[in-house]
Amino acid sequence: MTSNQLKSSRISGFHKKSPQERLDLVAAFAGLDEATVAHLANMGNLDPHLADHLIENVVGTMNIPVGIATNMRIDGEDMLIPMATEESSVVAAVCNAARQCYDVGGFVTSSSGTLMIAQIQLVDSPDPHNARIKILERRDEIKAVCDECDPILVKLGGGFRDVEVRIIDTLGGPMVITHLIVDTRDAMGANAVNTMAEKLAPSIAAWTGGRTYLRILSNLADRRLARARATWTCEAIAASGMAGEAVRDGIVSAYQFAAADPYRAATHNKGIMNGITAVVLATGNDTRAIEAGCHAYAAKDGHYGSLTRWEVTPEGHLAGSIEVPMAVGLIGGATKLHPTARANLKILGVTTADRLARVIAAVGLAQNFSALKALATTGIQKGHMALHAQNIAMMAGAVGEEIDRVARVLVERGTVRVDVAEAELKLIRG
Ligand code: MEV
Repeated sequence: MTSNQLKSSRISGFHKKSPQERLDLVAAFAGLDEATVAHLANMGNLDPHLADHLIENVVGTMNIPVGIATNMRIDGEDMLIPMATEESSVVAAVCNAARQCYDVGGFVTSSSGTLMIAQIQLVDSPDPHNARIKILERRDEIKAVCDECDPILVKLGGGFRDVEVRIIDTLGGPMVITHLIVDTRDAMGANAVNTMAEKLAPSIAAWTGGRTYLRILSNLADRRLARARATWTCEAIAASGMAGEAVRDGIVSAYQFAAADPYRAATHNKGIMNGITAVVLATGNDTRAIEAGCHAYAAKDGHYGSLTRWEVTPEGHLAGSIEVPMAVGLIGGATKLHPTARANLKILGVTTADRLARVIAAVGLAQNFSALKALATTGIQKGHMALHAQNIAMMAGAVGEEIDRVARVLVERGTVRVDVAEAELKLIRG
């Protein structure tokens, strides 16, 4: 084969090959050395056969550290929370926030239930208002079609709950959008509601005379909201050199900033998602679905704002609360198949998707508390840099005990840079 042929990305039948055969082709394409190929071929604690069936064209796996957030008390129950993240400080932030509200009871959570929404798009309807009413008239038939799609879900207490029809103005004229509201219980529910929407669409077209196109769930799962709240006393949140009242007021002001300014809100919510996504990933749930839902919900009032609220209680304590769409499941997909997700769910000890959703909301709130506290006091870099320094030390080639030694020097000097780490490593190694 010439080098030009090797460089072609047109590889017919790639999906039919084994992971090792694919890896050999990729190695030839990208000029990977033996050590890199061996590294990719080592799939760690994920069975290669399982990996090969979870997604397409598998050549390897990517390990992300799982850390445990301690100190979490949620609805009176002490819990250990597994978090999968590559970002330093995220797990520590949750531990710290939880420690500071543990003695006053920790987190209280609730939810709006486990309802998912599927959308059916109808276009070319000459009389959209008439069409809307015609669809609503068929509620009983719609319920029957939906419930027939998933008798097991119905047996478990879930299934069709309601139908709503909206008329929206679009660049292509009015569209009639049918929402199927379905209780998916312990499933995330995408498969269930997508099947229902696809099954029902031809009937909607027939009843109205329009044409149906998209039939898919909405990730703006605003019938599946998870809520959490917690209170921090000023005494508990006093920081080195700062009275608790000043810390409290700084956090409230940081929230007010995020609520008013989308530039700040994006970063504020990113911090919340640091916590949320880490638990969603650790439990094998769909991180993108959750992120899409949360960010869309943050814009529900017509402008992008904060997912949390921070206020001062009549007693002068700091009260934080969060409300977010949280479409997570315990059954189906990677949640059930991935052994690490299963182990993490065991550590969490949750038995319903609703409980998992509420725990995740509490983690998001804890994360936000720590980020805002750091920002309103010492600044984020001090804490970040201590952990970041270890990454930099490793990047400079430090191993074993060298990592902590080099990192300590970087932090002491206030220069967390690879070149400084390399120089320090040279010194240590003589
Ligand atoms: C960094 O990953 C997250 C923060 O930027 C969040 C925030 O600014 O609120 C610290």
